[in-house]
Amino acid sequence: MSKLAITERYGKALGNGTEPQESPEWISDIDNPWLHGLFAPTTVEMSCDELEIEGEIPKDLVGGYFRNGTNPRFKPTNRYHWFDGDGMIYAIRFRDGKAVYQNKWIETKAFTMESEKGDAIWPGVLGPFDFNLPISPIKDTANTDLVFINNKLCGLWYESGAVYQLDPFTLETVGTEDFNGQLNVPLSAHSKVDPNSGDLIFFSYGDRKPYMRYGAVTPDNEVHITEVELPGPRRPHDVGVTENYSILHDFPIFHDESHFKKTGKRVPYFHPDVATRFGVIPRFGNNEDIKWFEFKPCYMLHVINCWEEGDWVVQVGCRTDNPNAVKPKAEDGDIAGMIAFLTLQANIYEWRMNTKTGETIERSINELNVEFPYINRHFMGRKNRYSYLQYIPYEAPATFDALVKFDIETGSFQRFDYGDGIFGSEAPFAPKPNAKDEDDGYVVTFVTDTNNWKSSCWIFDAKDIEKGPICKISIPHRLPAGFHTLWVDGKDLYSDL
Ligand SMILES: [Fe+2]
Repeated sequence: MSKLAITERYGKALGNGTEPQESPEWISDIDNPWLHGLFAPTTVEMSCDELEIEGEIPKDLVGGYFRNGTNPRFKPTNRYHWFDGDGMIYAIRFRDGKAVYQNKWIETKAFTMESEKGDAIWPGVLGPFDFNLPISPIKDTANTDLVFINNKLCGLWYESGAVYQLDPFTLETVGTEDFNGQLNVPLSAHSKVDPNSGDLIFFSYGDRKPYMRYGAVTPDNEVHITEVELPGPRRPHDVGVTENYSILHDFPIFHDESHFKKTGKRVPYFHPDVATRFGVIPRFGNNEDIKWFEFKPCYMLHVINCWEEGDWVVQVGCRTDNPNAVKPKAEDGDIAGMIAFLTLQANIYEWRMNTKTGETIERSINELNVEFPYINRHFMGRKNRYSYLQYIPYEAPATFDALVKFDIETGSFQRFDYGDGIFGSEAPFAPKPNAKDEDDGYVVTFVTDTNNWKSSCWIFDAKDIEKGPICKISIPHRLPAGFHTLWVDGKDLYSDL
């Protein structure tokens, strides 16, 4: 059980020192908050269609809510980071007022090799990286994000890895997806699908040249790819997409390459004297077509949305002014740096880039510390108003204790607190089948109550989240905290609709 001072600061999120059920025994002797309380991995894989329901599942909520996340199966070989765990998918599908729940590990090549050995093989992101290992020097877990492309559900990894195809009805891992053999490079999480054209817009990054690749795959599996010239290895986490352009990210957060070569440890530093750069590239453009725009130094994990207004390309996202602003606390021991970094202090921000004149405008929209944004994905790349985000408390980084519906146009917001000791997940918007307005639909989220270690799925009316969930569905096991989610509309998920 964790004895670090962070346990006290996190309070209920770490279980106030009590360990939740269905967690592996080996966590008990590792002093690391990312393995305890809300973050404790589960040992359970299950499927259930007889779920206890409070309220009524709306009949017009049709489709699937899928959540990816980190769930280590074996005791880590090195100092563990929350980002390291094996990918696990948690899914709930809705149809005819009924729900079916499932969760399952993503059986990546690394997961299969470790399962055969019965022990962990790869180190995690805190290193040292081991370039002698097969596949990759740290474990490719596919644990970060999900896309639905050409009727295939796929898991992606934030460090850029293989694309793992999953059966959306069984969550079985089907294999790796290479788009008819056309794409043999790794892809990063937050590669995304244009809801209108069906194009997959992707990027990847790495420690060796080329430091970034960008491209797009059409629904006919035509692959376009270009190598993006960067000053050195960078840590882009997302990409912006409009109808005609993509926005590539070059933030002034990077590591010392000689230190990495010497120690195998990658320590990213924020450089407050180096500009943020965004590269606007036509969707099927090449490196020489990129127009780079400079802005104040900052960092951003997640884009909310992007669109075009005449010659202007607009990007709205969750910006961190200085990711090193919160100083590590000595009492957090050797994980102090990662705890401080995840404090984030992310605020909603807008950048404007004029593709004709090169002019730039930037402004803060709101100072909320919110992250893990989700929009009505039918508006991706087009001007929209609403985003559904998670509020992150300062004292407990990487936990979500309120749902926020933010109006980008007016700057106003609604907020619903999950409750004392109850934590939510990234909450996708699920449109009604015949929706007329942008927010005509539902918001769904998995929550875990650390008071009793019970988990459930809550459904909100997206037009009024402040009235609280209109329905709660009990999940028959405890869900650890998770990463990114995906809503798949019923007409895309069910072949007979
Ligand atoms: Fe992410």
